[in-house]
Amino acid sequence: MACNVLHVLGRYCAPTAFHSNPKRLPLTTTTHIPSVHHFRRQLSVATEAEEDSEVHIPIAGEDKHIPTTTGKNDLGVESHKKSFYPRKNQVVELVCESLAYKGKGICKIAESGFVVMCDRALPGERFLGRITRMKKGRFAEVKKLNTISPHNDSVVAPCEHAADCGGCKTQNLAYHAQVWAKEQQVRDLIIHIGRFPILGPGSVDYMKPILPCDVQFYYRNKMEFSFGTKSWRPGDVVQGQDSLYANKSALGLHVPGCFDKILPINNCLLQHKIANQVLAIVQDCWQHPASNVSAYDVHTHSGFLKHLTLRAGRDQKGLPTLMVNFVTSSYKPELLQPIVWKIIDNIPEVVSIVNNINTSVGNTSIGEEEYILHGNSTITECLRGLVFEISANSFFQTNTYQAEKLYQLIEEAANLRGDGSEIVLDLFCGTGTIGLTLAKKVKNVYGYEVVPQAVADARRNAERNDIQNAKFIEGDLNKIGDDFGNEFPCPDIVITDPNRPGMHTKLIRFLLKLRASRIIYVSCNPATCARDLDYLCHGLPESNMPGAYQLKGVQPVDMFPHTPHIECVCLLELC
Ligand SMILES: C[S@@+](CC[C@H](N)C(=O)[O-])C[C@H]1O[C@@H](n2cnc3c(N)ncnc32)[C@H](O)[C@@H]1O
Repeated sequence: MACNVLHVLGRYCAPTAFHSNPKRLPLTTTTHIPSVHHFRRQLSVATEAEEDSEVHIPIAGEDKHIPTTTGKNDLGVESHKKSFYPRKNQVVELVCESLAYKGKGICKIAESGFVVMCDRALPGERFLGRITRMKKGRFAEVKKLNTISPHNDSVVAPCEHAADCGGCKTQNLAYHAQVWAKEQQVRDLIIHIGRFPILGPGSVDYMKPILPCDVQFYYRNKMEFSFGTKSWRPGDVVQGQDSLYANKSALGLHVPGCFDKILPINNCLLQHKIANQVLAIVQDCWQHPASNVSAYDVHTHSGFLKHLTLRAGRDQKGLPTLMVNFVTSSYKPELLQPIVWKIIDNIPEVVSIVNNINTSVGNTSIGEEEYILHGNSTITECLRGLVFEISANSFFQTNTYQAEKLYQLIEEAANLRGDGSEIVLDLFCGTGTIGLTLAKKVKNVYGYEVVPQAVADARRNAERNDIQNAKFIEGDLNKIGDDFGNEFPCPDIVITDPNRPGMHTKLIRFLLKLRASRIIYVSCNPATCARDLDYLCHGLPESNMPGAYQLKGVQPVDMFPHTPHIECVCLLELC
C-alpha cells in the first residue's frame, strides 16, 4: 500500500524507510523535484520536522550545481538562465505560486524555475527576496525584502508586528483568500498523503467547503508570552540587516527560528482585549527599577521569569474572566507580589493568578509545581450549554467562538440515535469537553488523556454539569498495551482528537481491530490526519492489517484566522 504514497512523495524513496518507522512520515527522499506541484508534496510530508531538521527537499539543478548567473538588472538583482543554484544572501526576484501548509509561499525564481519557500509571500505576488538558507540538496528559504507587484487579495496587515512575530503569517492576505488557500491545502493532503481520489472517474468528493470564522480578531482565549534577555527588533532587510537585537530583557514572543530572542509585544490582535490590558500592566511593572525580578537567560540558565500565560474564559453569566500564569524558574512569591497587586487593583476580571515553577532548562511552560497567588486555580468557560473548569496546564480549544461550531459539527458527524443506547470513546479528551457535550444523549462516555490535571478537570467538569455516565482515565495513548480496551465495552462511536503528531500506529492497530461503526477524527494537523486516514481506510502494511473504514467526509474548519493552522473534522464509517 505504501508504494502509491511513496510514488507521490518521491520516486526513489526506499519503501523500507517508510515501513520501518510508520509513525513518522518519510522525511528523506532523493527525488529530483521538477515542479512546484511536487515541491508542495515534499513540504507537506515535512510538517512534522523542525524547519532546520534533516528534511531533504531536492531542488531544480541540484544534480549539476552550476550557477549560471548572467548579470544584474537595474535593481541590482541577478538574472539567471535555466539551470540555477542560488547562493546564501543572494537577492533574487521571485514569483509566489501558492501557499503551502504552514503558510509558507512556494515561489519560483523568475526566469529559472528554481523553487524556494518564503514566509508571508502571497500567491501571485512578485517580489525581491534574499536567500537566507541554502543547503546543497536540501531546501532554500528566502526572506521577503519588498514587493514588486502584489497579490490581488493582499491587504494592509492591521498589526504592527504581523511581519515579524511569526503568529499571524497571513494577516496581509484578505480573509476570503486565506480560507480558500486552507481548503486547497487540505484537499491536496487528502489526495496525495491520504490517497483518496477526489478527482477523476469513480471518485467521490469527500471534501466539504471550509467553515470560515466570523470572528477574525481577539478570538484567542490563551496566549503564551516569553521573557528573555535578548530583545529583538526587525532590521532594515533591504540594507542587509536581517534583524537587530540588544542584550536587554524583554517580554513578548519568540522570534521565529530564534529560541533566545524576544520581540517585545504590548498588544496582540489575536488575544482577548482584557488580556492585552494585563499584558500592558506586566510590561509596565516588571522592568521597573524598584522591581527585583529578572528574565530567565536560556544560555546561562539563570534568572527568574520564564513565561507569562494569559487565559480568558467566561463565568456562568457570560462575563469575561481571566487567569494569569507566571512560569518561573523557582518559587519566590514575594518577587511577584507587586505585579500581582497591580493586576488585581486594576483588572477585576482577573479571578486567578497562579505561579508554575519550572526548573528544567528546556523551553516548556508546564510547571512541576503550581501555587495560587490570587483567587482560584481554575477559570471557567461555557461551551454548548455546559460549564467547564480549566486549569493552567489543561488543553482547552483556543477559539471558544469557533469551538461551539466545531463541536456542533462533531455532534452532527456522530449522528447519535438519541435513545441513550450508544457508547462513545473519547480519545485525547483533554478536559472532557467533546465527550461531555455528547454525554446526555448516549449511554456512556469513556475519555482517555495523558495530562493528569486535564483528567482531574474532566472529572470535575462531569460532576459540575451533573453528568454521571462519563468516565475519564489517565493514560498515554502512545504506550497502550494489549490490555487496552478491557476497561470499556466496544464503543459505537470513537472520537479521536490527537495533537499535531497524530495517532501512534499502536492506536491505529487497536482501532482497526476494535471495528467501531464510526470514527470521528478531529485534527489540527491535516498532514498527519491524512496519513492516519490512509492507514484506517487503506490498511497498515507493517502489521499486514487491511483497512476497515470508508472516508465519508472531511470538513475543514478555520479556528485560527491569519495563521496557517487548520482544523478538520473527518467522518469514517466501518466498511
Ligand atoms: C488537540 S487536544 C484535544 C483535547 C480535547 N479533545 C478538546 O477538544 O478539548 C489533544 C489532547 O491530547 C492530549 N494528549 C497528547 N498526547 C497524548 C497521549 N500520548 N496520550 C493521551 N493524551 C494525549 C493532550 O494533552 C491534549 O489534551
